[in-house]
Amino acid sequence: MKVLIAYTTKKGSTREVAEKIGKVLESEGIEVQLSDLKDKPEPDGYDATIIGAPVIMGNILHRAPRFVKKHLKTLEQKPFACFALGGMLAEDTSDNREKMLVILSKITGLIKPAAIGLFGGKYDDDRDYRNWDKISSWADELVEKIQ
Ligand SMILES: Cc1cc2nc3c(=O)[nH]c(=O)nc-3n(C[C@H](O)[C@H](O)[C@H](O)COP(=O)(O)O)c2cc1C
Repeated sequence: MKVLIAYTTKKGSTREVAEKIGKVLESEGIEVQLSDLKDKPEPDGYDATIIGAPVIMGNILHRAPRFVKKHLKTLEQKPFACFALGGMLAEDTSDNREKMLVILSKITGLIKPAAIGLFGGKYDDDRDYRNWDKISSWADELVEKIQ
């Protein structure tokens, strides 16, 4: 199985999360292609696609929904999952998850994901709210969901 993990990032923390998810999938025998959306990856040819993006100024970084819109026909035919990073998830409360889901509806309003990952983000070294255990277990559970 070959999976595309396509991310967009301003400062790199989403790329690192995409890399972590990729490592977990690879450890389960899945072939992974990581790609920055800037490089305009093409989702055909993959058995599943995972998109990752941060929330910036109240919005999901625009390249992610733009990619989904552009490739909707292809993406709809195979398993699709998405994840988002947000500073607001420094506190992982149901209220904050709900807010993130509303922001993510720019993507989930277009296509129904097999899984949605909501993770804390990183502003700088002193304010890094990424929870690597949560990220790893989400990726672990993803393996079955995208088969
Ligand atoms: C300019 C700026 C604006 C941000 N706006 C928000 C926001 O509105 N809501 C939120 O939850 N996080 C916000 N964040 C936090 C980012 O989601 C977090 O830093 C994320 O990890 C950035 O991802 P990146 O390193 O891949 O660019 C903001 C960060 C920056 C730098």
